[in-house]
Amino acid sequence: MQRSKIAGIGYYVPKNIFTNEDLKKYMDTSDEWIQERTGIKERRYADRLGETTTTMGVEAAKIAIERAGITPQDIDFIVFATLSPDYYFPGCGVLVQRALKMKEIGALDVRNQCSGFVYALSVADQFIKTGMYRNILVIGSEKHSFGLDFTTRGRNISVIFGDGAGAVVLQPTQTSTGPGGQGILSTHLHSDGESAEILAMYNPGTHANHWTAQPVAKFDAAEMGQMFMSHAMIDEAQNFPNMDGPAVFKKAVIKLPEVVMESLTQNGLTTADIDMLIPHQANLRIAQFVQQKLHLSDDKVYNNIQKYGNTTAASVPIALCEAWEQGKIKEGDLVCLAAFGSGFTWASALIRW
Ligand code: ACO
Repeated sequence: MQRSKIAGIGYYVPKNIFTNEDLKKYMDTSDEWIQERTGIKERRYADRLGETTTTMGVEAAKIAIERAGITPQDIDFIVFATLSPDYYFPGCGVLVQRALKMKEIGALDVRNQCSGFVYALSVADQFIKTGMYRNILVIGSEKHSFGLDFTTRGRNISVIFGDGAGAVVLQPTQTSTGPGGQGILSTHLHSDGESAEILAMYNPGTHANHWTAQPVAKFDAAEMGQMFMSHAMIDEAQNFPNMDGPAVFKKAVIKLPEVVMESLTQNGLTTADIDMLIPHQANLRIAQFVQQKLHLSDDKVYNNIQKYGNTTAASVPIALCEAWEQGKIKEGDLVCLAAFGSGFTWASALIRW
């Protein structure tokens, strides 16, 4: 079976920098609180009218495709991870296919929030391994700034998120299998839906309060559209993400080291073999906790949450690309990607660069 490798990588972040001081104009918060609790100094916000989740993904994709030495017409499958799509439907994958004038290839959207990119990479990896496709474009992109509550009510979430995109091109590699051979050694995907509602955006949605056990109304034609999205839901901020931050934090610091260890154990490796860990950029304190638990030195973990905040599905590919551009990842290095987020879902990918 052929292994897959990252043949090209790129990222795009909007020009507009929004600092913690800027956020203070809209909500009761402070630079000290945000930096102390999250490590974030600033984040980027997409141009209100000119940029979307797809357009940012396209910019990252163009770089990844060029670096892979191919053209958009060579891509034979797209996997797009996001929680902030341009439209409720269709997904962003088809919009990328259109924007880059690609052939009538398959386009799949993945909805796994912060672990979306690692899930998407894993899906693409399976298609390469089976020989079904040879050039797969994997994108993680988010335009969070359009869907945040910029009042004090939403401050625990709004200060965290930022916009941006990252992309890779996956291709088959002919190198030997085993931990020394180049490419993706393994991917590991997990979920636990018990706490699905503690980090979620409830509406628009088709749940009709099913999960909160409120009485379900009989069929009422006039009411149906209102159950999907109503003025009352907007008044109650149900169109914004909700999060029990401390509960997410506690689970993340357990599951992230666990899923890194799982990838190492499966390949007969140990933490001493890791050259670079790219943790999802959710909170600097989470990343530092994981680093400590795995006994990794500072030069073996890459963080950039300080500049970009949490860009959810884009965070891992942006960080991976930056680390590589800065020469911190070299050929033959063992790189581990690990992410945790809403769902809960969590995942890792172990790569010989
Ligand atoms: N500015 C000032 N004060 C704030 C802010 C803010 N932006 N946000 C919350 N506070 C206040 C709270 O109201 C609370 O006040 P109180 O003590 O008077 O009640 C106090 O600060 C402490 O709040 P906590 O929520 O307990 O703060 P915590 O230290 O846990 O930090 C945070 C919050 C940053 C959200 C943290 O819990 C976290 O990072 N959690 C994990 C997030 C994560 O990993 N998400 C997954 C990825 S996202 C995805 O998948 C979509």
